[in-house]
Amino acid sequence: MSSLPPAFRLNFDAGAGRSTFAAANAVSFFAFSFLVLSVPATTITFQLSDGQPAQTHVAAPGESVLDVALNNGIQLQHNCGGVCGCSTCHVYINAGGDDLPEISDKEEDFIDRAENPRINSRLACQCVVEADMQLVVTVPPQHFLGH
Ligand code: FES
Repeated sequence: MSSLPPAFRLNFDAGAGRSTFAAANAVSFFAFSFLVLSVPATTITFQLSDGQPAQTHVAAPGESVLDVALNNGIQLQHNCGGVCGCSTCHVYINAGGDDLPEISDKEEDFIDRAENPRINSRLACQCVVEADMQLVVTVPPQHFLGH
């Protein structure tokens, strides 16, 4: 290589650098794609009480059921802003509830104040999802603003 004129060496080296960089990027892209595609998505199916058909939406880890509802135009009261300070985001978890975070004493207290609480009642703002969860959630009628 040292016998090549300097300009040629420079071009050759720059080309090799680009090839190495491109190859590394391709490997990274495929590795990233594999990781993304191999992490099963979380879905939440919302059963609505107002006669609307059920809706299923993908949820990102760290989002709450309330976040996903609001981000998709589903009406769900949230008077305290999602800080476990009211009972207006009350929902029923019909499937997947065992995968959700444990219910806290505070959440339980507020659920007791909700309209028609049941054994599968949760506060949507406290149901934070992780990857690979399949939830089915009933949104109660939203005429009751609650506490
Ligand atoms: S929005 Fe108030 S407890 Fe969820």
